Amino acid sequence: MEQDIIKIRGGKKLSGEVTISSSKNAAVAILPAVVLASEIVKLYDVPHINDVHVLIQLLQELNIDVTTVNDALVIDPTSIKNIVLNSDNVSKLRASYYFMGALLGRFKYVKMLYPGGCNLGPRPIDLHLKGFEALGAKVNIDGGLIEIQADKLVGDEIYLDFASVGATINIMLAATFAEGRTTIRNAAKEPEIIDLSSMLNKMGAHIHGAGTSEITIDGVNRLKGCIHDIIPDRIEAGTYIIMAAAVGDGVTVKNVIPQHIEALLSKLEEMGVKMLIGSDNVRVLPSEKLKGVDVKTQTFPGFATDLQQPISSLLALAEGDSTITETIYLERFKHCPELVKMGANIELQEGKAIIHGVNKLNNAEVTATDLRCGAGLIIAALLAKGETTIHDAHHIFRGYDGIKEKLKKLGADVE
Ligand code: EPU
Repeated sequence: MEQDIIKIRGGKKLSGEVTISSSKNAAVAILPAVVLASEIVKLYDVPHINDVHVLIQLLQELNIDVTTVNDALVIDPTSIKNIVLNSDNVSKLRASYYFMGALLGRFKYVKMLYPGGCNLGPRPIDLHLKGFEALGAKVNIDGGLIEIQADKLVGDEIYLDFASVGATINIMLAATFAEGRTTIRNAAKEPEIIDLSSMLNKMGAHIHGAGTSEITIDGVNRLKGCIHDIIPDRIEAGTYIIMAAAVGDGVTVKNVIPQHIEALLSKLEEMGVKMLIGSDNVRVLPSEKLKGVDVKTQTFPGFATDLQQPISSLLALAEGDSTITETIYLERFKHCPELVKMGANIELQEGKAIIHGVNKLNNAEVTATDLRCGAGLIIAALLAKGETTIHDAHHIFRGYDGIKEKLKKLGADVE
């Protein structure tokens, strides 16, 4: 059992190299998608994070065999049993909802608990359910259990009111075995959706347009196995780049796809951060005093909401005022009171944080209320003098592979 506390003694400069792990949000869609396969799937570069461990347990609850062979996760779904997913594991994370689309697609029936995940304010799943209904499914919600069933799934044109990542993925999963063509309009364009689509296509699916706002899925009857390497985690990369801008003395962040984080890189340049951007790495040079900037979160390729909390800590010490406007999760500001405990000057308005730059942050006892809040607090703790204790660190271990080891290797004083 991992400790639920991270202690950081700040004020140290970080230097050297850090290698980014594979994408959490791609892995958490890809693992449930294996339910659609009739043969063994081998996944390389699966990140060692708690969300992945929980999804593996959920696969095992479905009688799917999961083993690790050398560097690969070998998943054999041939003995799958479509049981009701009602264990605690379902409510430990958001991505358990991908079993809805995957099991509905494969068996035309799924019954499971409502998903959990970080508390970022309301996180409805109406668009997922409307998508399933458009394909011909009936949804019944009884207490915390959702039951979705269909005699058959038939492709349809589905317009998403919002370009939701989860709804796009769930509809793709369910539509893979639907009769005829499904078209998702106003689809989300996040790179993790492209990664999932390329894996499903290797398995024999007919999905086109992933990464654009219109995705078509021509239904097939069966998916075979495949071997797949998961893309690097753009949010982990962004977090370490922000950290390097905050307390780096020359840090190279490796295994990065810079095109996935263009909005972040251009914001950091606007702040005055000097970076050398390679084809698969970013070297962050030591920075002088940085300037405050305005950040507005948007769907991809805009500024990622998942990097809004980490960059808040950097903006807390930047010169002048910065405004963060959150358009995806209006209440994703639980990190701000924690930063204020450390001496930041932040005013909260509806959907906005106005950050007035200060000259220093102090150590404090703070709480990681959610995953990216935790990442932001780590950056703030590295910037602060003295020892900061971050409680509820389990949120951080959900999504950052080997974070303590990576921080130590860069020279951070962390335990
Ligand atoms: N929305 C609806 N109805 C729906 C679905 C979404 O109104 O049926 C709204 C949400 O309430 C929210 C917005 O649409 O305001 C965005 O939701 P989306 O479905 O795009 O996000 P998600 O699938 O719940 C994924 C990531 C999040 C990331 C968002 C946005 C996973 C497991 N989660 O969530 O990642 O913030 O996309 O990019 O992939 C994280 O990694 O820390 C994290 C929270």
